[in-house]
Amino acid sequence: MKRRDFHQLLQGSAMALALSPWMKDVAATESKLHAWRANPFALGIASGRPRADSIVLWTRLLFSQEDRAVETEALRVDVEVFADANLKRRVQKAEVFTDAYRAHSVHLHVQHLKPSTDYWYRFRQGDAYSPVGHTRTAPALNADVRELRIALSSCQHYEQGQYIAHAEIAKQKLDFVLFMGDYIYESSNPQYAIRKHSGEEPKTLAQYRERYEQYKRDPMLQAAHAAHPWVLMWDDHEVVNDYANDQDRQYTDPQQMLLRRAAAYQAYFEHQPVLLGPDKDNPANMRLYEQLSWGKLADVWTLDCRQYRSAQACRDPVRGGGRMVVQCDELSDSTRTMLGNEQERWITDSLSQSKRQWKLVAQATQISSTSIPAPVGRSYWNDAWDGYPEARKRLLQTVVDAKLSNVVTLGGDVHCNVAANLRLEPNNPQSPIVASEFVTTSITSRGLGDKPAALIRESNSDLLHYRSDERGYGLITVTSKEARCDFRATKFPAGSEAGLKTQASYVVKSGKPGPQAV
Ligand SMILES: [Fe+2]
Repeated sequence: MKRRDFHQLLQGSAMALALSPWMKDVAATESKLHAWRANPFALGIASGRPRADSIVLWTRLLFSQEDRAVETEALRVDVEVFADANLKRRVQKAEVFTDAYRAHSVHLHVQHLKPSTDYWYRFRQGDAYSPVGHTRTAPALNADVRELRIALSSCQHYEQGQYIAHAEIAKQKLDFVLFMGDYIYESSNPQYAIRKHSGEEPKTLAQYRERYEQYKRDPMLQAAHAAHPWVLMWDDHEVVNDYANDQDRQYTDPQQMLLRRAAAYQAYFEHQPVLLGPDKDNPANMRLYEQLSWGKLADVWTLDCRQYRSAQACRDPVRGGGRMVVQCDELSDSTRTMLGNEQERWITDSLSQSKRQWKLVAQATQISSTSIPAPVGRSYWNDAWDGYPEARKRLLQTVVDAKLSNVVTLGGDVHCNVAANLRLEPNNPQSPIVASEFVTTSITSRGLGDKPAALIRESNSDLLHYRSDERGYGLITVTSKEARCDFRATKFPAGSEAGLKTQASYVVKSGKPGPQAV
């Protein structure tokens, strides 16, 4: 095939994918070149979901007052992918039509790329060009890979700090950013606000879009997106605090709750470099959990711990959601699920069959126990895996049954840096360590007070490191010898001039479960 024909073929396939079913009703007519008064790319750009031969590129057009006249039109956005930072060697070009129905968001699933290769990309509409982004594909499935570098991050409450962790992430040499949820917060806590959310608590599609607009305008967050591909999972605050499937804390009618969730999921999709999953027509049913391989070195799974879970055990009848529970018989109900039956079957099969050296199981919250002594028995936080102990046991039993070594779980949500042993029976030294856990603290969101954090640390021998006082991210480096986590951290609240230091470093040696302090 001639080189020119090949490129035409690529352009054709990229266009076909851009017009996936959810996009099919865009009036794909030639749109006139618009002379923009204000930059329509004010929300930045992003790439994500790296695979050996593909990547997802994202942007969303924004309209100033002076540009409002074209907001009702379907607009053509040109996308270019280059093999060099100087944009001299263009390897792909595509056109994507978008319109107000999808908030003028643009998703392009670029295919036929080379493995382990750097690419640069930009968007154009009319006379406006986006910033240039850098991205990189995953290695070939059978490639020998020397190193995998990930920034593990979560929980970026806009009001509670500046995104200086993202400014550092943008400068790191990384394969990808692994963001495990709470990308936006629907709620406010004025007591800890150093800057303000605009608008009220989002419940409608328009309100969720407005919330993403505010977050996406942040220059440090934009820099981290422009520098690396992201692998994304959501947690609860992308919809509403502590939600579980179709339940919220107010016991809202589940049908009403699902409408709110659908609006939140659609807004999530419109603002992230992700795909819709099997149900391409409907962001409300978006399947975000996936598996990603990194050569022969590692498999990475991202688990959705919100969309399919059972409601929290022993909820307060007035105010549901997360709380500490004691003497709660519901905890031992083996029909309760964190992942839903379908996802649980999928991770059980996929994990059991994994032949890669490292198995990195990324999920949104904490698997190790944070229970504390109570006058009768122990008290458990029912929103994390402590509230789903039977589901946790099944996940860890899979590791034992399949005789897997080098399983490392990665999490977020709890606003704590955690290095922990994972045993079938938490905190029981007689129960063998079967896997290792690293949980990152939040980018900005406030952590636990010193006293409860100290009590949790003292009450759980599996917690080797547990600090909630600082903000930051986890720099994960995986080689054939070890999986290392450097907890990069700064004090709360993170100011724009603050710097990060390494709070602690832990390694898991290949073949020996359990993190060790460095
Ligand atoms: Fe959070």
